[in-house]
Amino acid sequence: MAPWWQSAVVYQIYPRSFADSDGDGIGDLRGIAAHLDHLGALGVDVVWLSPVYRSPMDDNGYDISDYTDIDPLFGTLDDIDTLIEGLHARGMKLVMDLVVNHTSDEHAWFAESRDLASPMRDWYIWRPARAGHEPGTPGAEPTNAGSFFSGPGWQFDPASGQYYLHLFSPKQPDLNWENPAVRRAVYDMMRWWVDRGVDGFRMDVINLISKTYPLADGPANGPGGLCYDPSIVVEGPRLHEFLREMNREVGLSAKELFSVGEMIGVDAETARSHTDPAAGELGMVFTFEHVSIDNGPTGVKWDVVPLHLPALKANLAEWQEALADVGWNSLYFENHDQPRSVSRFGDDSAEFRVVSAKTLATTLHLLKGTPYVYQGQELGMTNAGFTSIEQYNDLESTRFFAEAVAGGGDPAQLLGAIGFKSRDNARTPMQWDASANAGFSTGTPWLAVNPNHTRINAAAAVADPDSVFHHYRRLIALRHELEVVRQGRFALLLPEDERLFCYTRTLGEEVLLVVANWSSAPVVLPSGLPDRAGAEVLLGTHDSLSDELAAWESRIYRLA
Ligand code: NOJ
Repeated sequence: MAPWWQSAVVYQIYPRSFADSDGDGIGDLRGIAAHLDHLGALGVDVVWLSPVYRSPMDDNGYDISDYTDIDPLFGTLDDIDTLIEGLHARGMKLVMDLVVNHTSDEHAWFAESRDLASPMRDWYIWRPARAGHEPGTPGAEPTNAGSFFSGPGWQFDPASGQYYLHLFSPKQPDLNWENPAVRRAVYDMMRWWVDRGVDGFRMDVINLISKTYPLADGPANGPGGLCYDPSIVVEGPRLHEFLREMNREVGLSAKELFSVGEMIGVDAETARSHTDPAAGELGMVFTFEHVSIDNGPTGVKWDVVPLHLPALKANLAEWQEALADVGWNSLYFENHDQPRSVSRFGDDSAEFRVVSAKTLATTLHLLKGTPYVYQGQELGMTNAGFTSIEQYNDLESTRFFAEAVAGGGDPAQLLGAIGFKSRDNARTPMQWDASANAGFSTGTPWLAVNPNHTRINAAAAVADPDSVFHHYRRLIALRHELEVVRQGRFALLLPEDERLFCYTRTLGEEVLLVVANWSSAPVVLPSGLPDRAGAEVLLGTHDSLSDELAAWESRIYRLA
């Protein structure tokens, strides 16, 4: 029998931006609990909560200072118990974010580790300055590893004269997974949450936990000779072992808990090795490959090139095929780290926003794997439209901007790239209704609400049977209904076509054909596609059955 999560659809909540119950301008757990009917109406099975643990909020909660407490901004442990109960009562499950590649520098473990003599010194990755360099001076970092958030990946600690590794911000020191006591502490914490009632974990950058020692210099490809090549830090030699150990110790497989590992730089073959049930590691992984297709030649996300549809199709097809028999896919276009898909891959103009959001949804949800809906995606929410760096909160965007401007970059050009790709595009408050602050908060929202909330909001979408929301609802229902959607074999059609995304899903005698026009102009379906005579349209964006697809039109056929 297929595990339960192979039939599930996940809804991701970024708590800070979902719903604010107490008027402080920041979303919270009670706000979420007040909106469970929205999730019930959509029909999702699982809620993944981005971090709500106690945190100084340097990276909005991805810097945790206490894994077994809730940050007061978000509420209390009682509130999370209530949320778990509320979800379970509606037949939904709760998946917590597990951020254990690093902690906050304000975690008690790190405070203790700062002491050279402490047995906990070795819980983090400390190294002396580069030989022949004065500790603390520019270039004296132990290696040239860059941080994913720009700048060196090492921070000098004057008290001990050594550096600690932080692959993200200096306030996110990396844990030393080589130390068995660290691993035990993590597994204890995970069991504590499982005992509390959570149904699984989304594991933040989990393929960074096993590091190659000693971290060596990598190829310099960033300012100041820094190495921003993630391949030196991903998929370390003990990763499989650690994941197997975690699975065994926490009972991930034994208790049928949900697990998805976020993996930077992971390819499809490697994903299969982690999600093969025989490996006893993870249920599925998040890849970055398909959301890097519109990165330019440097490979950096800020180097934006227009989407080349054949490249996206080839990548998604490669993953569908690699995980066809062994392993499992996760399916996503959006999350709290990616811009809004309708602005990125679709057409967010007034004319085509709704239909292109629906067609992106159809294309993704008919693939094989577990689909993820990121809050607001089901409304076709768009990018933020920020034009000045002061409007941004996200440290990845602001640190990149500062570094690039200091290096002589053109601010207008940089703001264009950030406007297109920044994570804050996905983090503007959820648009509940047309009222002030979109019904998100009675206070001043921590990040500006998109002015288009007067048109694009949940109240309007739920009331309109032709909305993006109801399209998502139908797609989710279709997955629950049809085994061929869940388990059918995938075959890509017309791989070179630059406007059409077409494929079949086949299970026994049953064949579904998906045809989707990913362009803002009509396209005639070429001959050579499977015969549609007598086929039933299970879901379409338009009523027509003609051989010409309107701009952004898509259909799901069940072939006769
Ligand atoms: C990946 C998370 O999704 C992202 O939001 C975060 O900034 C980094 N990991 C660091 O935890």
